[in-house]
Amino acid sequence: MAEELKISNGTKEERYMELLPQIKAVVEDEPDAVANMANVSAMLWETFGWWWTGFYRVVDGVLVLGPFQGPMACTRIRKGKGVCGTAWAENKTQVVPDVDQFPGHIACSSASRSEIVVPLHNAEGEVTGVLDIDSAELATFDETDRIWLEKIAELIVL
Ligand code: SME
Repeated sequence: MAEELKISNGTKEERYMELLPQIKAVVEDEPDAVANMANVSAMLWETFGWWWTGFYRVVDGVLVLGPFQGPMACTRIRKGKGVCGTAWAENKTQVVPDVDQFPGHIACSSASRSEIVVPLHNAEGEVTGVLDIDSAELATFDETDRIWLEKIAELIVL
């Protein structure tokens, strides 16, 4: 496996197209989920430079902070709370163009303006965690991000 990410300066979709096989190569060599979440958060952050990129895992019925890149964050989020807890409760990706318009948004960082949260699943299809990405700008995430980040989330088996 290459130890260095190689991404050209293309469109968002072109970057995802280059990134996905590199993520696959990293995670298929490594069975440890924490190591994989750590590298995937770093690879996403390095590619796109978002404000906060990381994971929460379902542990004893609550989302607990996992590996991430960015400023320190809230450690525990209950089911149905905030964008992360909603993605878990609804088992559905949440694309939030303006976090101030999302009822119950949890402001871990006042700089966060838009957000996308993608559920992670086990083999039974249950939610085992979430991939959470925050941007310091409004309306950063769209359908392109949802489609590609869902492909990336499938590669993390918790
Ligand atoms: N804003 C999230 C909480 C997690 S932080 O953004 C890292 C939410 O409302 O669920």
